[in-house]
Amino acid sequence: MDTPPAVRARGIVKCFGEVVALDGIDLDVAQGQLHGLVGPNGAGKTTLLGLLLGLAVADSGSLEILGTPVGRALAVPEGVAGFVDGPGLYPSLTAKQNLAALAALRGDAPTMGIGDALEQVGLTDVADDRVRGFSLGMRQRLGLAAALLTKPRLLVLDEPSNGLDPAGKKHVYGVLTRLAADGTAVVLSSHRMDDVEALCSDVTILATGRVVFSGPMTKLATEGRELDYRLVTSDSDATHRLAGETAGIRVVDDSGVRQGADMLVVSASVPALDELVKGLVHSGVAVRELAPVVSPLEAAFLDLTEQQESDR
Ligand SMILES: Nc1ncnc2c1ncn2[C@@H]1O[C@H](COP(=O)(O)OP(=O)(O)O)[C@@H](O)[C@H]1O
Ligand SMILES: [Mg+2]
Repeated sequence: MDTPPAVRARGIVKCFGEVVALDGIDLDVAQGQLHGLVGPNGAGKTTLLGLLLGLAVADSGSLEILGTPVGRALAVPEGVAGFVDGPGLYPSLTAKQNLAALAALRGDAPTMGIGDALEQVGLTDVADDRVRGFSLGMRQRLGLAAALLTKPRLLVLDEPSNGLDPAGKKHVYGVLTRLAADGTAVVLSSHRMDDVEALCSDVTILATGRVVFSGPMTKLATEGRELDYRLVTSDSDATHRLAGETAGIRVVDDSGVRQGADMLVVSASVPALDELVKGLVHSGVAVRELAPVVSPLEAAFLDLTEQQESDR
């Protein structure tokens, strides 16, 4: 038999009084997949992750986790770990004691794997410090360590990179990548596309409770959108002129040139940009820098979420 998907959601609706937080959500997450959930504040990310963790129940629609339909009872589905709105920790206990207490609550042998979990998230040096003094990033990492102890097959994390410094991010991303390679599905939310870009193979973009895109990252990146590009050349006047003569190129900002910086911002599709670069080289103008102002994924995200807002 095929392994069941980690998540299969169809037509999920969740309201809070008048507010429709989730408005017919479909979501598929394969086992071993790193799946990013992105969307502006209030899009419904935390609400959706809460349903996966059994913290709330949908008003309608169907939800299967690791092949088992989720019922009406509030309980963490078998094989699932994670947290929304920050991990629940005991401030007066040390990091190590927190993990031992959480393991004991579940009836596990109290010290099993604790040192290893702390090491994986980079908290070995503060294992005996009280959690009270921990930064947000350290709490996030301790919460992840707690989830690791349960050896989940689906890990659900709400904004896990909030508060992480670059070293913390490296630890967390390493842990998540290894888990996924071992077959654990990871669903994580972020309001930042670059975090998801660095980590996830698949992404679901939510806007005001609806899915506006769901699928592989690569598909999102290659869709033929016009983007803004920074363009620095050896002759900005000639570049300005050529940009005006090339079909499909629009100069959106030439204030850099007026300030003597030789930098233009042009809006273009990739084929139009190719034509401009060929034209520049042909005219003996050297291209010193050419890069999108925001990443293609960030641009797609902004496009799709703005479109959804204006459709309402
Ligand atoms: N417990 C709640 N009570 C009332 N409204 C809620 C509750 N939780 C979320 N909402 C509303 O549901 C919508 C989605 O919220 P949320 O899932 O937290 O979004 P996100 O995590 O994407 O920022 C928002 O409009 C929010 O105000
Ligand atoms: Mg949220």
